[in-house]
Amino acid sequence: MCGIIGYVGPQPALEVVVDGLARLEYRGYDSAGVAVLNDNRLETEKRAGKLANLRGALEQGPRTADGIGIGHTRWATHGAPTNTNAHPHLDNDERVAVIHNGIIENFAALRPELEERGCKFVSETDTEVTAHLLSQELKDRGDNDLAAAMRAVCKRLEGAFTLVAMSVDNPDLVVAARRNSPLVVGRGEGENFLASDVAAFIAHTRNAVELGQDQVVELRRDSVTITDYEGLPAPVREYHVDWDVSAAEKGGHDYFMLKEIVEQPRAVADTLLGRVGIDGTLTLDEMRLSPSDLRDIEKIVIIACGTSYHAGLIAKYAIEHWCRIPCEVEVASEFRYRDPILNRQTLVIGISQSGESMDTLMATRYAREQRARVLAICNVNGSTIPRESDGVLYTHAGPEVGVAATKTFLTQLAACYLIGLYLAQVRNLKFGDEINAIIAQLARMPEQVEKVLDTVEPVRRLARSLSNSTTVLFLGRHVGYPVAMEGALKLKELAYMHAEAFAAGELKHGPIALIENGLPVVVVVPSREGRGVLHDKIVSNIQEIRARGARTIVIAEEGDEAVLPFSDELIEVPAVPTLLQPIVATVPLQVFACELALAKGNDVDQPRNLAKSVTVE
Ligand code: F6R
Repeated sequence: MCGIIGYVGPQPALEVVVDGLARLEYRGYDSAGVAVLNDNRLETEKRAGKLANLRGALEQGPRTADGIGIGHTRWATHGAPTNTNAHPHLDNDERVAVIHNGIIENFAALRPELEERGCKFVSETDTEVTAHLLSQELKDRGDNDLAAAMRAVCKRLEGAFTLVAMSVDNPDLVVAARRNSPLVVGRGEGENFLASDVAAFIAHTRNAVELGQDQVVELRRDSVTITDYEGLPAPVREYHVDWDVSAAEKGGHDYFMLKEIVEQPRAVADTLLGRVGIDGTLTLDEMRLSPSDLRDIEKIVIIACGTSYHAGLIAKYAIEHWCRIPCEVEVASEFRYRDPILNRQTLVIGISQSGESMDTLMATRYAREQRARVLAICNVNGSTIPRESDGVLYTHAGPEVGVAATKTFLTQLAACYLIGLYLAQVRNLKFGDEINAIIAQLARMPEQVEKVLDTVEPVRRLARSLSNSTTVLFLGRHVGYPVAMEGALKLKELAYMHAEAFAAGELKHGPIALIENGLPVVVVVPSREGRGVLHDKIVSNIQEIRARGARTIVIAEEGDEAVLPFSDELIEVPAVPTLLQPIVATVPLQVFACELALAKGNDVDQPRNLAKSVTVE
């Protein structure tokens, strides 16, 4: 949420900052702004709406800037998305500029004191207090030490924040602080960057430095100094980003989402790469949890939000079946507020593509406080959740820019399957043959996804034909139920339609009253393999809704003749073991939602009201 970039170096700062913002816009896109130093003055430009509006305003007049600047794309929390509420915010003397991601929870308590000292507030944001606090602190200190002022201010702030500041009196310095919100430094040659994520500076450098909790960074052309809030040097963990700028570009597609959907076979293959041996041996040493730790586990709890939560729901079916360990799945925002029962024998798995979702971060932190072992499944190297976990299994989806999760979901599934199968192997479970057969099938999933992508054209046509519908229902059983939930979520967030998923067996307990003539209902039918009864039951459910006028859109494995007579539209996916079916069954639903949203004229990369990484609770 909110994208942040800071730059110090020889290049024209305005260009670097605005280009960086374009790569961060998926984090928030209701307004944007920049501040640069020009002739010893702070110059800002801020515009409500997407970045294009800011670009338009910047083109109005000739702009020059020294090689220092900061920029921000906003996802509004306090105050509407207006020009005034957009960041940066300045102190009244216009000597300090600040941008911020997160929420300053005690801003209202700090404001009266600042007003008493004569500060005039112009915006409705929580952020503006920090510009005034910095300015007052600098006055009190009388030494223009921006980093020291930042440390003092941070100690007074409550909440989650990344703060970035520059000042007229420090023309070669950008200072930033981080508590619970993401911030990463990019180290270049004679220039340095900082940003909410590496995408902002990947065109300039692939050398990154993680920033820890409660740290302050001083960024100059030739140096990066990181300290804690007391000013003591902090450990520096530098890493090399393993993807390049082309991965963060559209590569000939109109939308990132379209590109990310077709990248799925590769993303799944990369996530399995090096982890599944040709003889079926799984190598997950990188997880940092020893086989003896894993043998001790008596219960698994999966916590996540949104699409990642759906991956967790699917993992439960697989883990309980393969490992015979009880597995609970809960949305992270509910988890820590209900006093869950955890102990050293509980493995908590936090699933988060960004590694920064505040709800999941707080829930995993809570789990560690309760002495549970915490394992993260994450797509972003060096992000907070894996850093604070006992172990991590990275998905290798590459950067996902479209706000709706697609390739990261499939790779999360692959990672969950790997963990489930590894646990089964480590615990020497008796049905080794089944486990070995599944591992072989899992290794083939990239080619199965490729097959689905080759046959989705009819799904596109179907989606376009439904662009005037107002409601679509989704039904599923077993692993098909979370797949149905994922299909409904995609449709809500992209097409802004009423979409709801039900467990097909629950239909008769109420939701069937919603069925009326012509209502589109998508049904995810489980594979026939090993689940005959379940399959037969859902075929009955399809007949029940069709008898009441529903237009049935059936996703079933190829050759499933039982569903044919009752399917108004049939979408076939390759036949794979039931537990792995979500990997293939989800893809048509992604395409369906994306195409329907495009038919409605929506921006599928930046759906309204959303942001990619939700760093507020
Ligand atoms: C939906 C979507 C969101 C995220 C959720 C969790 O398409 O992208 O529901 O899945 O915000 O995000 P992460 O996985 O980054 O914790």
